[in-house]
Amino acid sequence: MAVLDIKKYPDEVLKKKAAPVKDVNASVLRLVDDMVETMYAAPGVGLAAPQVGVSKRIIVIDVSSKEEKHPLVVLINPEIVAAEGSVDSEEGCLSIPEYTAVIKRAERVVARGLDPEGNPVEIEGTELLARALQHEIDHLDGVLFVDRLSPIKREFFKKRYLKTVMRDV
Ligand code: NI
Repeated sequence: MAVLDIKKYPDEVLKKKAAPVKDVNASVLRLVDDMVETMYAAPGVGLAAPQVGVSKRIIVIDVSSKEEKHPLVVLINPEIVAAEGSVDSEEGCLSIPEYTAVIKRAERVVARGLDPEGNPVEIEGTELLARALQHEIDHLDGVLFVDRLSPIKREFFKKRYLKTVMRDV
């Protein structure tokens, strides 16, 4: 396993629609392992393959905290099949360091995809897991959480981000 380099906004790979995985083969499983290691090393609650420069539909999520353990979620070709409710909460992204914003998301979602064995699985999420599923699946469509800000807030983000974070690049 290896910790991979995380692509940062405004890297082009983050804007691309990722391609479905056709075959859950050894190279896909190696990528999944590396994504899991990269997520834990960051540390972050989720990671999508485009964030490590691979434009494929794979996400990993672990919403565990010190107080509460949760299972690792690996979903290949995930899609949201049901969503309900609406909740505002603060959100960040490993690809957009030093910036968070309040984003409206569905309160509860059901996602379907393949597990690392290639079997269909369905995952229901509420709270942070619901948010992470929506955030990571957005990445597969080239959508970042800042794309969900109002136009005024997005402009403000861009100016601030380019002035501060990008200044060191
Ligand atoms: Ni993200």
